Amino acid sequence: MSIFKDHIDAMSAYKPPLEGRDPEKYTLLDFNERTIEVVEPIRQALHALVDSGRLHMYPSYGDIAQQIADYAGVDAEQVMITNGSDHGIDLIIRSACQAGDEIIIPGPSFAMYSQCAKFEGLNMVEPQYTREGGYPVDEVIASVTDKTRVIVISNPNNPCGTLVAPDDIVRIAQAAPKAAILVDECYFEYSKVTVADRLHESPNILITRTFSKTWGLPSIRLGYVLSVADNINALLNVRGPYDVNQFAVVAVSEGLKSPETTLAYVNEVMEVSKPLLEAFLEEAGIDFWPSAANYLWVFPQNPEALELALRKEMMLVRPKANAHGQMGLRMTIGTEEQTRRLVEVLRKALQ
Ligand SMILES: Cc1ncc(COP(=O)(O)O)c(C=O)c1O
Repeated sequence: MSIFKDHIDAMSAYKPPLEGRDPEKYTLLDFNERTIEVVEPIRQALHALVDSGRLHMYPSYGDIAQQIADYAGVDAEQVMITNGSDHGIDLIIRSACQAGDEIIIPGPSFAMYSQCAKFEGLNMVEPQYTREGGYPVDEVIASVTDKTRVIVISNPNNPCGTLVAPDDIVRIAQAAPKAAILVDECYFEYSKVTVADRLHESPNILITRTFSKTWGLPSIRLGYVLSVADNINALLNVRGPYDVNQFAVVAVSEGLKSPETTLAYVNEVMEVSKPLLEAFLEEAGIDFWPSAANYLWVFPQNPEALELALRKEMMLVRPKANAHGQMGLRMTIGTEEQTRRLVEVLRKALQ
């Protein structure tokens, strides 16, 4: 007999395939990470923290909320830092819902939303994205009931890279004023589309963002929530006072001093590498979903063989099935050099 709640025992853990991801051996195109190391000033700031003689103290966050607010174009009271954006997603769902409530999670999407919904005992409503129609805006609005407490808008969505227009997000928020509209802007720097400037107009919107992807800091875990100040204050009642560690704050504070280095990487990925990969896929007649992020969801004839061929050439990509069980490969896009090599390996494997 378990000491835990039945539905928790009945769940299975979210276990991304992390084993064997050795950056010395492989080009890692499987987790939508930045594919190059962080800049030297961030490494130095972390070393300085180790040497500071302050590791025995609880973390203190200084003006990090203000720094993030300046970067995001909001007020500091509209920012809450979190332990990665997974933490923000969890806090929002936990704070907005109780068992038996409904959450709308258009699929296929990032696993954490349904994972959080399951451990809160929520009923999931899952209208599907389509390649042609994108996010099912009208179906989502039609699915809203008195019990709807959260609507997820992953923007752009993982794995398909689909974007929802800010006007549609506001329309959904207005159609469900009693629900939290969770807008996951994990890949915001790539898409450059945000509703951060629409928060006062739609006070039920909560944005989650992260320093894990574009900024290259998934190992230190820093995310943030943006919303109106009342929502942030409510969420702060739930977040622990030390949930974010000092390494994360030091690294991000340093990174925010020179966002141009991050943005230069974004430009290379979006302006050079992505068109290269898209052009190759089009030329080879391989289907893929249009994407606003640093990855493409690609549907070759024989995905298993192609994944293996890439692995043999020390390149990792991520198998992801669509709603009909058809397997695709989600390929993270990196630097121009890495993408030229990816195209070369794909071309050889497809011959
Ligand atoms: C859409 C989306 N949201 C959130 C996350 C989690 O990011 P973090 O490292 O900030 O928890 C990911 C990670 O892959 C993601 O793809």
